[in-house]
Amino acid sequence: MLAGRIARITRAVRTERLLLREWRDDDLEPWVAMGRDPEVMRFFPSLVERDRAVEAMTRIRAHHAREGFGFWAVELGGTFVGFCGIGRVPFEAHFTPAVEIGWRLARSCWGHGYATEAARAALAYGFDVVGLREIVAFLVPENARSARVCEKLGMTRDPADDFDHPAIAEGAISVGGAPQRRHALYRISAARADELSAARRSR
Ligand SMILES: CC(C)(COP(=O)(O)OP(=O)(O)OC[C@H]1O[C@@H](n2cnc3c(N)ncnc32)[C@H](O)[C@@H]1OP(=O)(O)O)[C@@H](O)C(=O)NCCC(=O)NCCS
Repeated sequence: MLAGRIARITRAVRTERLLLREWRDDDLEPWVAMGRDPEVMRFFPSLVERDRAVEAMTRIRAHHAREGFGFWAVELGGTFVGFCGIGRVPFEAHFTPAVEIGWRLARSCWGHGYATEAARAALAYGFDVVGLREIVAFLVPENARSARVCEKLGMTRDPADDFDHPAIAEGAISVGGAPQRRHALYRISAARADELSAARRSR
């Protein structure tokens, strides 16, 4: 059943203002530039060297090829502006195995609701096409913009779910000086996402 659904995958998803699509080789330069922007990377352990950006892009594309879903490249007006999508959580924690939603956009396009718009499409894809029952997000609690995006998506946080990220050393500090190891976990179920999109449609 699941394999049949994934086999019908569309290669791109359109939203009102954005295109979520598979990555292309020419996304690399703007992707490298985002990894060097201290504001974009404020809540991550370090800026991203070119080699590491290439590796990340390769990993993202491999996940798509393997799973039939992943972190899409986000295009605005024909320009690559970052990524948003869903992916399998690549470490073990109290909530895994799980599929996470994630996003990272170029600084120039923050503040217009693009992350929320892209993430709504990614959630719908995860629930309606892939057939997931729950999607999670995790972030350092100081990342207020991302927390706000989670809230706007209808994701909820139970502090009892907070966890220490197993790939991050104790005492690690992010590019912007925030404690890096402790993460907040947000969750949303397929049933809740259905309720919220029905409510949005009836408005
Ligand atoms: C997180 C990110 C994708 C948000 O992109 P965006 O397109 O600006 O997001 P949206 O416009 O959809 O929503 C942002 C919300 O945060 C709010 N916000 C902005 N700054 C804020 C702050 N300092 N504190 C709290 N909320 C804030 C905005 O007002 C908006 O909410 P609103 O619609 O209720 O007004 C973008 O900031 C980013 O790429 N950050 C770096 C990468 C990152 O941290 N990714 C997550 C790692 S887990």
